[in-house]
Amino acid sequence: MNADPSVVVIFGASGDLTHRKLIPALYEMFCRGLLPEATCVLGTARRPKSDEEWRSELLPWVRDHAVGFEESSWSDFSQRIHYHAGDATDAADFSKLAARIQELNTQHDCGGNTLFFLSVAPTLYRPIVERIGASGLITEGKRWCSLDRDTRSWQRVIVEKPFGNDDESAASLNRVLGRAFEEESIYRIDHYLGKEVVQGILAFRFANTIFEPIWNHTYVDHVQITAAETVGVEDRVNFYDETGAIRDMIQSHLFQILAFVSMEPPTLYSAEHVRSEKIKVIEALRIPDENQLADYCSLGQYGPGVDDSPGYSQLDGVADETTTETFAALAFFIDNWRWTGTPFVLRSGKRLARKLTEVVIQFKPPAANLFRELPEFKQGRHLMPNRIVMEIAPRESIRVRFECKEPGLEFQLDTIDMDSDFQREFKSEPVEAYGPLIIEAMRGDQTLFKHRMEVEGAWRAVMPFLDERSDRLREGIQGNYAPGSWGPPSSDALMARHCAEWNNEISPPPAESSEQ
Ligand code: BG6
Repeated sequence: MNADPSVVVIFGASGDLTHRKLIPALYEMFCRGLLPEATCVLGTARRPKSDEEWRSELLPWVRDHAVGFEESSWSDFSQRIHYHAGDATDAADFSKLAARIQELNTQHDCGGNTLFFLSVAPTLYRPIVERIGASGLITEGKRWCSLDRDTRSWQRVIVEKPFGNDDESAASLNRVLGRAFEEESIYRIDHYLGKEVVQGILAFRFANTIFEPIWNHTYVDHVQITAAETVGVEDRVNFYDETGAIRDMIQSHLFQILAFVSMEPPTLYSAEHVRSEKIKVIEALRIPDENQLADYCSLGQYGPGVDDSPGYSQLDGVADETTTETFAALAFFIDNWRWTGTPFVLRSGKRLARKLTEVVIQFKPPAANLFRELPEFKQGRHLMPNRIVMEIAPRESIRVRFECKEPGLEFQLDTIDMDSDFQREFKSEPVEAYGPLIIEAMRGDQTLFKHRMEVEGAWRAVMPFLDERSDRLREGIQGNYAPGSWGPPSSDALMARHCAEWNNEISPPPAESSEQ
C-alpha cells in the first residue's frame, strides 16, 4: 500500500527529537523514494524564523544523522520544509497555524491530509490536541477537491512517548485524544517498533515451524531483555528527573519487545489482530504484592566516574535527595497457559558498560547428560543451555547457541553459535526507526503503533514500582553503581533468585560470508 501525500505538522520544531531523528528520518525516506511526491513538512514552535532559516538550522543535523546524505537530494527535499512561528496552545496563534496548514495543503496538493506529530513536552499534548479538535481542521472522510484530485481526506496524530506519567494520566490523555480523533487516527509511537530486529521477532516466531512448539514454559527457562546505554542523561536532566528508567524505557520500549516475544500467534499480520494479542499478553502480566516488590526489582542511580564525571545526583537541575532511578531491572511473570512460571527479566540503564539492546531466550538444560563420564564434565563443566539471542543494537543479528562435538578423535563438546547478521545477509543499511513508522502512519496502518488499552495495561503493570509502594526500594540508591559497570549488585542478585545470570557477552563481529 502506498503512503498518501500529506502535510506533516511537527509541533516542537526546535526540539532535539525533531533535529536528531524526525527530519533525518523523513529525509532518508525521501531519498529511498518512499515519501509521496506531494508531501511537505511544516515545523512549528514559538521562536520566529523563516522557512529558509529553519532549513539552514536543520542541515547540519541531517548531514550528521541521515544515512547516505547528499547535498543535491537535500536541496530537493528542503524545498518541502516550512516553518511557522506561534504558540500552539493559544487560540489566536492556532488559527493562523490552521490557515497555514490549509495553504500548504493546496500549494503542495496534499489531498487535504494532515499528519500531526506531537514532539513537544508531554504537558503540552492536552492543550494542543484540544486546539486541533476545536480548529475545524478535522474533516476526516470529507471530500477534498483540488484541480486534479477528488479524494477523501484524513487527519491523523502521532503521539510521542512518554504517553502519560502513570496509569491515570495515560487514561486521561486517551480521553482527550478520543474527543478530537477516532482511535483509527491515533498513532501512539514507540520507535523500538521501527527497529528491524524487533519486527523480525514476529517473522522469526510465526513464519517458521521449528521455534513455536518450544516457545513456552515447558522449554524456556527464562527470557531476559536488556537495553543498556553508555550515555548518561545528557541535557535532558529536567525531563529525566521526573521520569526515570522505568517510565522512560521499561514501560514503553522494553514492554513492546516483551509483547512481541510472548504474545500468542495473531490470526493475520494486521493492526487489529496483532494489537489484540499484544493487549492480551500485557493484561496477563502479574502485578506483584507490595511485600514481594523487593524480590522483583533492582533500582540504581549512577555515582561519580573515576574520570571525575559527576554522578547523577550531582547534575545541575536534579532535585536534592533525588531517588530517580537511572537503572532498573524488573522481573515479570505472565499468568497464562503458555508462560506460567517463566520469568521475564527486563533491565535498562544509563552509563552502563556498553551499548547493548537484546533479547535472550534461554532454554532449560537437557533432562539428563549422557556425556557425564567425559573428562570435561567430570571436571565440573555443565552442558550449556540453548539460547536464542536477538541483538537489536549495536549489531542486528539473531544467534542460536547449541552444544556441538568438536572435530577430532576425542569426543569433546564445545558451545557454538549460529549467527545471522542482518547487514551481512541482507546487505541493508539500518535507517532511522522513525522513518518507516511515519510512512506507516501515512499509509493508515496501525500495526506498529500502540493501542489505547495496551498503553494503559503497561502502566498498570509498573505502577507498584513507581508509586509510594516503591519508596523502600529507593532508599540509599544514590551512587549505588559505578559508571561503566552493569548496574548495582542487586541486579545480579535479582537474576540469581531466578537461578540465572545476565548475558553481558560481547557478540563477536560476523565472519565474512565466503564467496560461492
Ligand atoms: C528514548 C529514551 O525513548 O530512547 C532515551 O527517552 C533513550 O532515554 C533512547 O536514550 C534509546 O533509544 P535507542 O534507539 O538509542 O535505543
